[in-house]
Amino acid sequence: MEAFVRKPVFTVIAGAAEELKFPAYVVGGYVRDMIMDRDSVDIDIVTVGSGIELAKRFAGKIDPKLKVKVFKNFGTAMVNFQGEQNWQIEFVGARKESYRKDSRKPIVEDGTLEDDQNRRDFTINALAISLNKNDYGNLIDPFDGINDIKRKIIRTPLDPDITFSDDPLRMMRAIRFATQLGFDIEDKTYNAIGKNADRIRIVSFERITDELNKIIQANKPSQGFLMLENTGLLKLILPQFQELKGVEKVNDKGHKDNFYHTLEVLDNLSLKTNNLWLRWAALMHDIAKPRTKKYDEKIGWTFHAHEFIGSKMVPQIFRKLKLPLNDRMKYVQKLVLLHLRPIVLAQSHVTDSAIRRLLYEAGDDIDDLMMLCEADITSKNEQKVRKYIDNFKLVRKKLVEIEEKDKLRNWQPPITGELIMETFNIKPGRIVGDIKTAIREAILDGQIKNNYEEAFQFMLETGQELGLEPA
Ligand code: CTP
Repeated sequence: MEAFVRKPVFTVIAGAAEELKFPAYVVGGYVRDMIMDRDSVDIDIVTVGSGIELAKRFAGKIDPKLKVKVFKNFGTAMVNFQGEQNWQIEFVGARKESYRKDSRKPIVEDGTLEDDQNRRDFTINALAISLNKNDYGNLIDPFDGINDIKRKIIRTPLDPDITFSDDPLRMMRAIRFATQLGFDIEDKTYNAIGKNADRIRIVSFERITDELNKIIQANKPSQGFLMLENTGLLKLILPQFQELKGVEKVNDKGHKDNFYHTLEVLDNLSLKTNNLWLRWAALMHDIAKPRTKKYDEKIGWTFHAHEFIGSKMVPQIFRKLKLPLNDRMKYVQKLVLLHLRPIVLAQSHVTDSAIRRLLYEAGDDIDDLMMLCEADITSKNEQKVRKYIDNFKLVRKKLVEIEEKDKLRNWQPPITGELIMETFNIKPGRIVGDIKTAIREAILDGQIKNNYEEAFQFMLETGQELGLEPA
């Protein structure tokens, strides 16, 4: 608290508030994070007065040229400035808000600091610190949020039914904060999520997905997904993932529960990487298992082509969740499609040609694919796990050797379509593609080396077999 009180940014805000005679307070996430010793550059200031005027007065004191972004409709203003840190400060007038049942549009009135704290999501986010002369630096904590931080509890300041009905996204936020901070959700608050889950339908997928991504980026994302499932939110926001849950039995033979398996894979992977999209690939890798599941009398449960169908499901899921439909989605699709390949290699004799094909198809994402596959080992049989890990080591070694030799990671065909047309004096057409494919296959099979000379010779031979003569 000492260090906080002395931070110049707050003394300047306090000075501006004093000049305008507007009581002002730091509230929300910044205060929470400060108490928890987490670094934060987002500051929220609430004033009993005009947030926009206070922002302008503050900016004027720092530098008359400093920009103030005003959002008139919301009565808020933002100032970004580089002080001891790159601060992002939002100023808002204290408000009393209530929401209609059928809409996210609040009816807003001016209010007191207490009104403002009442309408916040959780007790740990409703803490305020005074910037006023008479009690500068004092903590105003009407809901004992400080104790909830100590006890690691997420709890709503008001009756949770009211807090969640004001903004149903807060149900996701409760689970997100619990997962991110390693907190528990107080029983009454948790039960209210189960009760109000259906109301998540009125929230936009952009907002839902923001929270979902934060859950996925936590140290142990499974925690969040278990709560999403248990409260009934998961089946509303990501039903395909919910469908992974459960074990079917035929002749007393069951398969593994793919919901818990996927969460284990996600947690394993999260120990190794913060890459959000790689974590999404872990979430999606078995997504098509429910729809490809079959019981075969001889082999037992099978999930044929689940990697292929799964990769086809990725765009529809990304579209619905308003996730980007760009290279990131393609990356997730690629990893889902290829996720069985290293395992197959690790189980059998590893041929150079299988390694070359994998390098060619995975390209620069080969290391991520290997990481995903290693995380996919969730067997409880230690001997089996050892064997897989050893074989993966061998696959990795071979990948390095072959890449050094053949350079297939970002493969470019050594012979272009133009050169094929020029050599045989032919027009564009299927045959050009056929020759290109034959050259690529010969390289991947190891029949010829990945260089211009051997590929050119092979092109001449293939052309002749197809009845073409060099011009
Ligand atoms: N808030 C709220 N209800 C919401 C969103 C936000 O009551 N649905 C309030 C909380 O008091 C929160 C503050 O607005 O602390 C700022 O919200 P936001 O920036 O989204 O979250 P932070 O708490 O700052 O946390 P993070 O930066 O991790 O998102």
